[in-house]
Amino acid sequence: MTSLTIRQPDDWHLHLRDGAMLGAVLPHSAWAARAIIMPNLVPPVVTLADARAYRDRIMASLPAGQAFEPLMTLYLTEATDPDDVQAAAASGLVKAVKLYPAGATTNSQSGVRVIDNVMPVLERMAAIGLPLCVHGEVTDASVDIFDREAVFIERVLEPLTRRLPDLRVIMEHVTTADGVQFVEEAGIGGTITVHHLIINRNHILAGGIRPHYYCLPVAKREMHRLALRRAATSGKAGFFLGTDSAPHPDSAKETACGCAGCFTAPNTLSCLAHVFEEEGALDRLEAFASLNGPAYYGLEPNEAQVTLVKRDQPVSFPTHIDAGDETVTVFDPGFPLHWEVQT
Ligand code: DOR
Ligand code: ZN
Repeated sequence: MTSLTIRQPDDWHLHLRDGAMLGAVLPHSAWAARAIIMPNLVPPVVTLADARAYRDRIMASLPAGQAFEPLMTLYLTEATDPDDVQAAAASGLVKAVKLYPAGATTNSQSGVRVIDNVMPVLERMAAIGLPLCVHGEVTDASVDIFDREAVFIERVLEPLTRRLPDLRVIMEHVTTADGVQFVEEAGIGGTITVHHLIINRNHILAGGIRPHYYCLPVAKREMHRLALRRAATSGKAGFFLGTDSAPHPDSAKETACGCAGCFTAPNTLSCLAHVFEEEGALDRLEAFASLNGPAYYGLEPNEAQVTLVKRDQPVSFPTHIDAGDETVTVFDPGFPLHWEVQT
């Protein structure tokens, strides 16, 4: 197969940041018709008013000719008001609430320390059908970083889904076979990134430390990467694309304490087509990238279509993009890419 036409994809987990960075990265997500926009700004997007203002800044940064619908999220704090969340959902502007365990990742310090403290909000969300996006890692310093997702399932996610069976939950950026199994058993949604389909922990650490492959949840062993590939290419309704494209200035990545995030927006679809072709599953790319996400969120799939074409020669992508006075490194899959979005 050298050409594939599918409904236009969406990105069910995207970091756009703000200011000059927002302007620099937004054009690179033009392949997506819509995206769930992460609220971990400084300060975070907590209220409907915050989300409205952030959405306005995103729309003001949109290049002429780029159609894009930001699906806004609220950052859940222990002070979040259930009535504000309900008003946000009713406005149609906010499509989900994001749960960051406090301290789990970038700008998560305002997140949740004790899950019981946010139960009134979660109960309201279950009642009104507003989805909860979850960063699924415990923050307990005694738990090995490679085990933090599996332990989160056991300590937090499993009890939560049992307590609130009507809550629509999305386990974001699943990185383990345990996560894949839980998404299936619990009948919840699970997003998978492009980079976790491509790298395992050796890519970060073997033969030198590679900060541009460091993200959270951190990539795990090869067996987990293979489980993610099986899930993404299975066509099963619970699994869909959430890139977690997370730009950081190179100065903040290439340093003694580098921050977490892979910037995959520019080559997402090329990488994805490569992976699905390797797995003999190009016929299931549309389910993963364009159909399962909207179905889980209760939205229609996009009417527009995109065509991916496989070129004889490798397709080139910039190694970096400029963002104000900084540069941001584009994810390097480590192999030549031949699939290209036809424009
Ligand atoms: O790698 C990550 N980067 N994981 C996250 O959870 C947050 C994100 C970011 O905002 O940079
Ligand atoms: Zn993220």
